[in-house]
Amino acid sequence: MCSIIGYAGPAGAAPILVRGLRRMEYRGYDSVGVATSSGGKMSLEKGVGRVSEVNEARGLDALPGTVGIGHTRWATHGGVTRANAHPHSSSSGAVAVVHNGIIENFAELREALEAGGFSFSSETDTEVISNQLQSDLEAGGGPKEAMVRTLARLRGRYAFVAMFGDGTLAAARFHRPLIVGVGRGAYLLSSDVLGFVEQTDDAIYVGNGDFVTVSPGAGGGAELRVFGFDGSPARRQVTKISKEFADTYKGEYAHFTLKEICEQPDAVLRVGANTPGAAAAAAALVRGAPAGSVYVTGSGTSYNAALVAKHVMLRHGGVRVEPIMSSEFPHSPVSMDGGSVLLALSQSGETADVIGAAAAAKEAGARVASVVNVMNSSLAQESDVVMGMNCGPEIGVAATKSFTAQLRAIHEVTREIAVGRGGHLPRPGAVSAAISGMLEGQAGIKALAREMRDVSDVYVMGRGVHYPIAAEAALKLKELAYVHAEGIPGGELKHGPLALMDEGVYAVMINPTDSTHAATLTGAREIKARGARIIGVSDARSDVYDRWVRIPGGDEAAYPVTEIVPIQLLAYYLALEKDADPDYPRNLAKSVTVE
Ligand code: F6R
Repeated sequence: MCSIIGYAGPAGAAPILVRGLRRMEYRGYDSVGVATSSGGKMSLEKGVGRVSEVNEARGLDALPGTVGIGHTRWATHGGVTRANAHPHSSSSGAVAVVHNGIIENFAELREALEAGGFSFSSETDTEVISNQLQSDLEAGGGPKEAMVRTLARLRGRYAFVAMFGDGTLAAARFHRPLIVGVGRGAYLLSSDVLGFVEQTDDAIYVGNGDFVTVSPGAGGGAELRVFGFDGSPARRQVTKISKEFADTYKGEYAHFTLKEICEQPDAVLRVGANTPGAAAAAAALVRGAPAGSVYVTGSGTSYNAALVAKHVMLRHGGVRVEPIMSSEFPHSPVSMDGGSVLLALSQSGETADVIGAAAAAKEAGARVASVVNVMNSSLAQESDVVMGMNCGPEIGVAATKSFTAQLRAIHEVTREIAVGRGGHLPRPGAVSAAISGMLEGQAGIKALAREMRDVSDVYVMGRGVHYPIAAEAALKLKELAYVHAEGIPGGELKHGPLALMDEGVYAVMINPTDSTHAATLTGAREIKARGARIIGVSDARSDVYDRWVRIPGGDEAAYPVTEIVPIQLLAYYLALEKDADPDYPRNLAKSVTVE
């Protein structure tokens, strides 16, 4: 995923663009660039690295002009090089483009453009857009006509902003986000409200298959027009964006990741509050579906939440749901029809694999109920029922508060499915208090991270509903602290993984005092006998644990939520021990909008 931004208005564009890019850096951060237009002349600077580094080295925010575009990149087409960084100018320099997404037919378009004398200096599919726009501009008309012709040729899923030599901006959206910030005589075109939240809280969510132009207006301000891809005028509606977006600063916290971990006691209380009735509507879909025809899907952390859903919904709601990893959806024996229901879990609502699974379900006639944090996301727009996680913007690349919000959403839907039978599900206040208790133990976790700083292998084990938590714990340790970590179903230990246990290993046992407790303790003893160090995450002490991470006891259904919190903290502090940046893990982007 990349971030794109454009600005046209009365102020200097470059500093506004750079501030917006800093805010959106979580979307992708391997390279960055800005282009501006002033007096009919374009200036462009770009480079490899984070926004602050490239800005310092190349003075992005000093480029002249009151119109400009900018980009942070997460490489898909072509390596991380300055040549591949955006913006990309066309051969003559008449058009520059920043782009998020994929142009599927770029090779074919590039070949035709090269045959027509256009030159290319990068490996990206983006350069095809700028050259195609130049070619279509040369065919007659202005930026609007060029956009209509070019958009008719592009295949794929994308959003882009183009800047033309006359200072006109044009931006198109096709299955990738594009939002217009409406300021005083100014417009910002961005992938994310965070790109413009400092400038305005008025926004237009551009429709899928629409494009906009922003050109110098008669009275000195900029003028916005909205069109369908065929050039027909489209309606636009200005909406207020939530004030909470303006609050996306780290505040007193060293990192967004820590802030978001610490926000969990509040976040779990707000789940679904922005979508009243959605849990009941999702439950009604599930209840109405024939047995064996309810699926739940997600990627990464959201898939781990889907695995928890399987246990919670059967145990507390009496409904069998089949979890399918979104990336495996096209290759799995899924049999869906008009009676089927797909529950889709996604923080961003923009993950290509999840959107692909939802699209396949819709095509089969199934109903889709999604649980998303970004309410205007593509997944939300394509779902029959949308429940909001409502946990506020999650900027840290690793999912933390969105995971616990997903678990709470699963509780709420299950409570509605069970009507009268869901009494064992914990109340939000109890979950919130349990997480607060976990956060109070941070000093101990920090010390544990220091002890583990040189560890190379961590195995996390749990049985039943605790296995998905083990998988999620391992994912956090991998992506934040770059430690080799594996989540293992506890009972599988003796079927292979025991061979890996020795003095160099840490084994984390997710071991609350429920029906899995005794068997997990036995596994811990077997591991300890091989010399590994044991960390027990449990409400009961045991002599087998070298380190005991205490979780609150008594409420079985709340265990999965409380178990993950100390591991989130451990992964965060271990990242600090290893001098890794927890907010921006290497090679990752917050949401993966390519398949
Ligand atoms: C892990 C992580 C990823 C995401 C995955 C799905 O910490 O952040 O594994 O969970 O890419 O993202 P969403 O939930 O936005 O679909």
